[in-house]
Amino acid sequence: MKFFVDTAEVAEIKELNESGLLDGVTTNPSLIAKSGRDFIEVVKEICDLIEGPVSAEVAATDFDGMVKEGDYLASLADNVVIKLPLTMDGLKACRYFTDKGVKTNVTLCFSVNQALLAAKAGATYVSPFIGRLDDINLDGMQLIEDIRTVYDNYGFETQILAASIRSANHVSDSALAGADVATIPPAVIRKLAEHPLTEKGLDAFVKDWKSTGQSIL
Ligand code: E4P
Repeated sequence: MKFFVDTAEVAEIKELNESGLLDGVTTNPSLIAKSGRDFIEVVKEICDLIEGPVSAEVAATDFDGMVKEGDYLASLADNVVIKLPLTMDGLKACRYFTDKGVKTNVTLCFSVNQALLAAKAGATYVSPFIGRLDDINLDGMQLIEDIRTVYDNYGFETQILAASIRSANHVSDSALAGADVATIPPAVIRKLAEHPLTEKGLDAFVKDWKSTGQSIL
C-alpha cells in the first residue's frame, strides 16, 4: 500500500519525507486555505521536495475552466496529478487529461457508481472519502471494499486512494479492504507507529541495557 500525506503544510511534508515513508502528497482547496499560502507556490515547493505524485485540485467547476486550470497546473512539474471533482464535467475533464497522458485523481467519491464512472473515464486514482461517509452514519470502509470488488470484477486499473482518513484504524482497515493508496493527515501517520507495548518494552530494554554497564561503540 502506498502512503500519501494529505496536507498543504510544506514543513510537515519535508519532515515526513525524511522518514522515507512517503509515496506522494494530496492537497485540496480547504487545505490550501488553511495553510494561508499561495496555491501555485505551494504546489511548486511540494513538487521540488517529493518525487512521487502530488495532487493539485482545479478550482473551476465547468469543463473548459477545469481544462485550462489543469493544463496550467500540469505545466508546473512532471509529478503533478490533476485533481478533479466527481461530476459529469469533472469526468469529461478526466478523460481529456488521461488521453493527454496526464495523471488524474477524481475526488469527492461517495458511491460505487461514481467510482465506476471514474474508472471508465480513465482516472489514475479515485478518492472515496471514508470519514465524511462515517460522519453521516454511512459505512466508509464498506465503500472501499465494494469499489475493490467492482474494479477487480472488470480489471479496472484505476487505483483506489482511500481519503478523508481520520484514524489509524481507517488506515489498517483500508489496507485490509485492498485500497491501493491511503492519503493520511500527518498526525495520523505519526500515530501509526505508536503501541503501548512498544513503549513499555523499549523502556525495559533501555533500563536493562544501562544495568549491564556496557556500550556498543
Ligand atoms: C482527499 O484527497 C482530501 O484531501 C481529504 O482526504 C479530505 O479529508 P477530510 O474529509 O478530512 O477533509
